[in-house]
Formats: sequence, C-alpha cells, structure tokens
Amino acid sequence: MNDNRGKLLAPSLLSCDFSCVAEQIRLVEPYSDLIHADIMDGHFVPNITFGPPVIKKLRKNTTLPIDCHLMIENPNRLLESFAKAGGDYVSVHQEVCPHLNRTLHLIRELGMKAGVALNPSTAVDSLEWILEDVDFVLLMSVNPGFGGQAFLPVVLPKIRRVREMLLQRGLDLPIEVDGGVSETTIPDLLEAGADWFVAGSAVFGGADPAGSAKKLRGILNG
Ligand code: DX5
Ligand code: ZN
Repeated sequence: MNDNRGKLLAPSLLSCDFSCVAEQIRLVEPYSDLIHADIMDGHFVPNITFGPPVIKKLRKNTTLPIDCHLMIENPNRLLESFAKAGGDYVSVHQEVCPHLNRTLHLIRELGMKAGVALNPSTAVDSLEWILEDVDFVLLMSVNPGFGGQAFLPVVLPKIRRVREMLLQRGLDLPIEVDGGVSETTIPDLLEAGADWFVAGSAVFGGADPAGSAKKLRGILNG
C-alpha cells in the first residue's frame, strides 16, 4: 500500500527485562520510532503493570515519544499525571470510556496526542462519530492483558474498514496495531493499511532485541 504516512515501529516494553529497562531501550532505539508503554489496572484487563511514576523515569531514558496504552478503567482521573510524567501519545479503550469525546478532548487539552483503542471484538462502526476527535486509532490484534499471544487475523478487515472510514472523511490518520505483530504478520498488516506496529515479544522475547528490532525495521522499510 502506498501512502504518505510513515511506517512506525513501537517496541512494547511489556516483554522487556525491566531490571535493566534503560539498557533495553538503548538497544532498540536506533530502529524504533515510539516506545510503547502498556498500563494495566487488573480490572479492565487481568494483569497489572505500572503507571505515571514509571513513565516519568522512562522519560529520562529515551528521547523517543512515549506511547501510553491505557488498559485501565476511569482513565480520566490519571490523564493529568501521565501528561506531567512525560507521556506523548495516549490511547484509551472505548470499552471503558462512556464519555469518550470528553476523555479524548482532555488528552488533547493536556498537550498529548489522543488515540482510541478497540478490542478485537469491538465493532469499528463505533468509531464513526469520534474520528474527528482522535490523532490515531489503535486496533488490538489480541485480547489485551498479556504479551506473546497469538495474532487474531480479524484485525485485518477492521484495518481496511477504518481506512475507508478515514478516507471518506478526508482524514489521514495513522492506524496502530498491537498484538502478535511479528515478521510473519507484518506483511498482511502492511497490505491492510496499518501504519504503526507495536511489537513486544517479537522484539524483546529473544536474546537479541537490537537484531530483532532491526529486522522488523527492515521489513517496514520494504
Ligand atoms: C497487550 C499489550 C501489547 C503487548 C503486545 O495487552 O497491549 O502491547 O505488549 O505483545 P506481543 O507483541 O508479544 O503480542
Ligand atoms: Zn499495548
């Protein structure tokens, strides 16, 4: 697919060795565009990770934008903390945002880029009335909560549909995909029209994160 949007690689720290996270970031930075941070609350998803204090430390250890994927209920109450900590991109899950416009506007008012995230089973038609309020769309290709899960191909027609919806409105926003992204699945995702590629285990799951990131970067560069 030819377009003017960049193909970005966003390694997910979920699968990295957190005992030396700064070093892990340094290994992949030369081949990466965003650092993807997965925030989990043990309620919306069955797992717990970290929050704004860790983002603040990460901010000091990378010059890349930090992409905060909030898998949490009531994200509004923490948005200001993520902004102060140095978050650049923030995505919230539509499934837990009853007042989605308000949440997205708050993210932008705080000076961050706003994304809406959809689980694999959530219909993309629900995006119809908020596409003007987002800077990017995040489509999950696994059920959120864990790294290393199998890619769900249902995301492919969803990417195509969102791209159509965006084109119909004259919007040129990036579509981010997250879950099971690897050298095996990237070709189909590129073909479907994805722009930003979150990769956790495919980057940090092996013995050579730098080599893995470099390889994915090469595939994205075509
Ligand atoms: C899952 C997270 C992902 C996770 C992806 O809930 O949102 O960012 O790190 O891991 P992989 O790439 O291993 O599927
Ligand atoms: Zn994520």
